[in-house]
Formats: sequence, C-alpha cells, structure tokens
Amino acid sequence: MKISVIGSINMDMTVTAERIPLKGETLRGSAINYIPGGKGANQAVSMAKLGARVEMFGCIGDDDSGIKLLENLKSVGVGTSYIKVIKGVATGIALITIGENDNTIVVVPGANAMVDKTYVDNIAESLLESDIVLLQHEIPVETVEYVIDLCTKHGVKVVLNPAPAYPLKKETIEKVTYLTPNEHEAVILFGKELSMEELLKKYPEKLIITLGSKGVTTCLESGKVLLIPARKAEVVDTTGAGDTLNGAFTLQIAKGADIKSALEYANVAASLSTEKFGAQGGMPTDEEVRNEMK
Ligand code: ATP
Ligand code: RIB
Repeated sequence: MKISVIGSINMDMTVTAERIPLKGETLRGSAINYIPGGKGANQAVSMAKLGARVEMFGCIGDDDSGIKLLENLKSVGVGTSYIKVIKGVATGIALITIGENDNTIVVVPGANAMVDKTYVDNIAESLLESDIVLLQHEIPVETVEYVIDLCTKHGVKVVLNPAPAYPLKKETIEKVTYLTPNEHEAVILFGKELSMEELLKKYPEKLIITLGSKGVTTCLESGKVLLIPARKAEVVDTTGAGDTLNGAFTLQIAKGADIKSALEYANVAASLSTEKFGAQGGMPTDEEVRNEMK
C-alpha cells in the first residue's frame, strides 16, 4: 500500500493571545513559536504518526526553515526523497494567531508556489505508484487540477481537502474520490443555494464536511445522512485538526475501511490533536486513537 501527499510545507509562526484581534486592533500576545506546519506536511505527518508509510511531494527553500522542516518530516518517518529544495526562494510561512479555541492564519506560499506542472512531471512515475493521493489548496490551482487529471487517468484514488477554499470546476469535483471541506469552505465551493443536507445527498460517499466541535458529516450511498459527533476535547489548539482528520481518513480508506468506520476513526484522531499545542504537536498514534475509541 502506498500513500502520497502532494502539497505545502510551511514554517508556522504562532502567537497566542486572549482572543483573535479585531480589525485594526492591537493585542498583547504570549511567546512566538516557530513550529512545523503546512497542510500538506501536516497531513503526511498525521499518517506517519498513525503508522503509515507515506511519501511527501512538495518544495521548500534553501533556508533554515526548509532544513528544519525536512529534518522534522524525516524524524517522524515521512518519505522525503522527492521534496525539491529550491535555491534562493523562501520556504512557505504561515502567521497564526491562536485565541479562544480558534485561530486565524495568513499563508505566504514561498516555495510552495513552485510545486508546478514541471515538478509534477518529474515525480509523476513515483506519484502514480500510489494507491491513494491526498492534496490540498496550498499549491497552485493548475497543479491541483493537473495532479487530479493524472491520478484519474491512472486509476489512483484522490482525496482533495479544498483548504483554503476557492471555487472548483465541476469536472474537478466529479473526478476526485473524496472532497473534504469544512463548513465555510463548503459555502465557497457550492454557494448557499442548497442546504447542507441537500448538498451531501447530491454527492453521497464523496462529499465529507467537517464541522469543528460538532464533528463530521457525509451522506451514505443509501441516502442516509450520517453525522458523527465530535469526541469531547480539552482543547488547547485546534490548528491542524482538519489535517489530522484528512490524514487519518485517507489512511483508513487506503487500508480498505468503509467510509463510516474511516470517519469515526478520523474524528477521534482529530479531536485528540486539539489537546496539544501546534499543528503537529497533538497528532495521535494509532494506539492512542484505538484506546480512545474503546
Ligand atoms: P483546522 O483548519 O483548524 O485544521 P478545519 O477548519 O479544516 O480545521 P474543522 O471542521 O474545524 O476543520 O475540524 C476538523 C475536525 O477536527 C472535526 O471534524 C472534528 O473531528 C475535530 N475537531 C475540531 N475542533 C474540535 C473540537 N473543539 N473538539 C473536538 N473535535 C474537534
Ligand atoms: O491547517 C493548518 C495549517 O494551515 C498550518 O500548519 C499552516 O501552515 C497553514 O498552512
């Protein structure tokens, strides 16, 4: 079984404040931390911590952040052989403010913008050996569409986590195996014309909407809308909860689980991830998830 992630690798610069500042407001924050992040890397790390063999495809700059992020991926066992180091370009960075169990994030893509079609052509042979490919929206849109086309042509399953959201082409939605927006991203993707239930019923066992502290929902082939409530968490930091869910879900699907079991597992994994600081800091092991599910 081979699982691949193609996506962003960021250094997260996080600051914690009593709450998220209002527009134009200045607040005193506590210490700044520089910690590994990026939706692509987070999702790969989530799977590696759960025991998967996973290959990460993406780009970093030849700066200190890039070196540290590469070391971090290696240290948790993510395959890094195809990560390209680009000279003279800064590694992606995310400015994160954490307050009141929520966050705001501004991402400066840097080297993530270099994950282009040429890069994909160079790594295509290895990528297409995958059983399943997981991608997000922190690399150029043309690349996302190109990878989805390539995978579809070669019968490779695709999980698309459309975060941060932008409207998608109808064909792209048709081609992916699973689409995993959160509630806000679902509105950007599909508008407000259909209710969430109608939307889920339109894409059974494809569209999965994460609902933060309310859990996760999808529609089964039978037409039954499934809502899996969140496990109650002692929340420290929700950054990366969506990434943990996507990684855990993809891993379970790769292992042959049905969508309901895969989401039940991923929902618990994501909840556990909120109980420690940092996007990757709270990502659980398979044993931790299974103990919690008992
Ligand atoms: P993020 O961008 O913060 O990583 P997201 O916006 O992509 O997350 P959410 O819908 O907020 O995604 O959360 C993803 C999953 O994480 C939820 O479906 C749920 O399983 C879990 N989760 C998030 N917040 C909480 C919480 N407060 N308590 C328990 N579980 C949570
Ligand atoms: O999903 C969380 C991630 O989004 C952070 O690690 C940050 O890098 C941004 O990409």
